[in-house]
Amino acid sequence: MHKPRRGLFLSFEGIDGCGKTTQAMLTYKFLTEQGFAASLLREPGSTEVAERIRGILLDRKLEITNRTELLLYEAARADLTERQIAPLLVRGQIVLCDRFYDSTTAYQGFGRRLDVTMVRGLHRVAVGNIRPDLTFVFDLDVRTAVTRRKGDPDRLEAQSQAFFERVRRGFLEIARKERRRVKVIDAAQPADAVFEDVKKYLIRKLRGHESRRSA
Ligand code: TMP
Repeated sequence: MHKPRRGLFLSFEGIDGCGKTTQAMLTYKFLTEQGFAASLLREPGSTEVAERIRGILLDRKLEITNRTELLLYEAARADLTERQIAPLLVRGQIVLCDRFYDSTTAYQGFGRRLDVTMVRGLHRVAVGNIRPDLTFVFDLDVRTAVTRRKGDPDRLEAQSQAFFERVRRGFLEIARKERRRVKVIDAAQPADAVFEDVKKYLIRKLRGHESRRSA
């Protein structure tokens, strides 16, 4: 479906409040300072269509069924993948994505209790053969994560603690099954210590990477 890729695709995952956005930003800064051509994207979002879908998904005033929610996340992902991620990878860039399909497996599969095999089948429809080369799961207990969140809770953040316990278990289960791709990082540490762990895995991955340097 997509052309062969030459870039590197990194995704940042975890429950709301785990600190993954901060880590994605630190990683982006680190890579660009090292002279790599990198792009930082977020899911759902980062294209006009996907940002509008995000607005629907996070709107607390809307009642959205679990299947509709699942399909909306996949629709936003299809748009972002086709318009941004795939072309950037073909150009040899490092693509950093704040969430990708593991979030759907964890939130809609484990959290909403939709059939995980069916959910995984939809990832394939949405993204074809695009797959993160390296995924970080920032693991944190649910209570601590809640205290770290800012502002009014959106539609997803308003879910119960039991929901987020299932989502957290979902991420750990994904990591257990895909040890080579998915690395679990203890997000209870201070942000700089978390980033040291990120760098450890990242540098190992970069060694084999042929991405063109922008410098
Ligand atoms: P964010 O707050 O990390 O930007 O993500 C928006 C919310 O959407 C967050 O609560 C996690 C949720 N989400 C899903 O439920 N499924 C998905 O596939 C994605 C990408 C996010």
